[in-house]
Amino acid sequence: MTGGRSPIRDFAGSGLSRLEPAQLGGLVTGQLARLCEVVRLDRADTETYVEVLADSLGPAAERSLALPPPSPTLLSDDHTPVEYSLAFLPGSTPALRVLLEPGCGSGDLAANGRTGLRVIREMADRWNFSTDQLDRLEDLFFPAAPAGAFALWCALELRPGGVPAVKVYLSPAANGRDRRAETVREALARLGHRQAFDALPPADDFPFVALDLGAWQAPRVKVYCTHESLAAEQAGAYSRLAPDEGRDQTMGFFHTIAGTGNDGAGGAADDARGPLTRRALTCHSFTETATGLPSGFTLHMPVRTYVEHDGQARERAVAVLRRYGMDSAALDRALAAVTTRPLSDGVGLVAYVALVHQRGQAPRVTVYVSSEAYEVQPPR
Ligand code: TRP
Repeated sequence: MTGGRSPIRDFAGSGLSRLEPAQLGGLVTGQLARLCEVVRLDRADTETYVEVLADSLGPAAERSLALPPPSPTLLSDDHTPVEYSLAFLPGSTPALRVLLEPGCGSGDLAANGRTGLRVIREMADRWNFSTDQLDRLEDLFFPAAPAGAFALWCALELRPGGVPAVKVYLSPAANGRDRRAETVREALARLGHRQAFDALPPADDFPFVALDLGAWQAPRVKVYCTHESLAAEQAGAYSRLAPDEGRDQTMGFFHTIAGTGNDGAGGAADDARGPLTRRALTCHSFTETATGLPSGFTLHMPVRTYVEHDGQARERAVAVLRRYGMDSAALDRALAAVTTRPLSDGVGLVAYVALVHQRGQAPRVTVYVSSEAYEVQPPR
């Protein structure tokens, strides 16, 4: 890891945040401020986003890190209710996003969901966007006694100018695990995507439905599918757009992350079909209702399940970024902004790497970086 501590390093204690580094909010706002510097957000935007993150966590921001996590959230492996990601495009500075659980300090799932909805509506008032799409789904995803593993997450894409783009993640298991598929179909139909459900591949689970809210050029509805064990060809075939090129790119990406690429990295095949996904996700996005077909396909590979330690995870992420002409040095700076531990001392800092295909756009690569506020998973 390159050394060179920047002056911004001490943000958490420097008055940018009212919180201490020994508090959850102090730690994550310190990480966020340093990440803002990596992606060249200016001081004013950084101050805004530090405050937005602290506010969005509510009372959990003040919670001492000596206590257990505020909720057993599955947002991250160690139950930190915050995760960062960098979205890379060729030849430009990556975009910084932060995923968080606004209701993490709220107690049961119903209260967690109510807090989440309130926080999203406050954001809508502040940044003047419509919550129409979310309102149409409220009774479906927020029943009085919700089931499932979470209620609401939100992701903020931290754009220059101090107004983030907002994504909301909802749980298809809210009405019971046995009604997940039905809930996804109903959600899509209510948003006008009546044929969309039939375009989805076979899945082991539907963990999330997500909505773009706010100033997006083409707001998406996204459905995530879990695939416990899928061969590379199959993952490639699920990419329904740019059929040939998209399929080959997805397969190459799969092999690089699994360590079975032709770069000599050598990884064991899981069975006769070759390497398999280990609980990978595909994401299918819908932006228009005319064709019933998805306009976007993403393969999320849980790189942390294929490697011994984060040094290896970083190498694989860098290999993907280089292949697409993206700024892998920014990834190194981002990892250094989040932790000072040697990468080989743990696994899970780099949680997922994703290859994103959106119709009419160049492929994007997204790297998800854990906060590790509570725990570092030991190397394998
Ligand atoms: N931690 C959860 C999981 O592993 C949810 C999650 C957080 C996630 N960030 C992600 C899933 C990025 C896919 C990609 O499923």
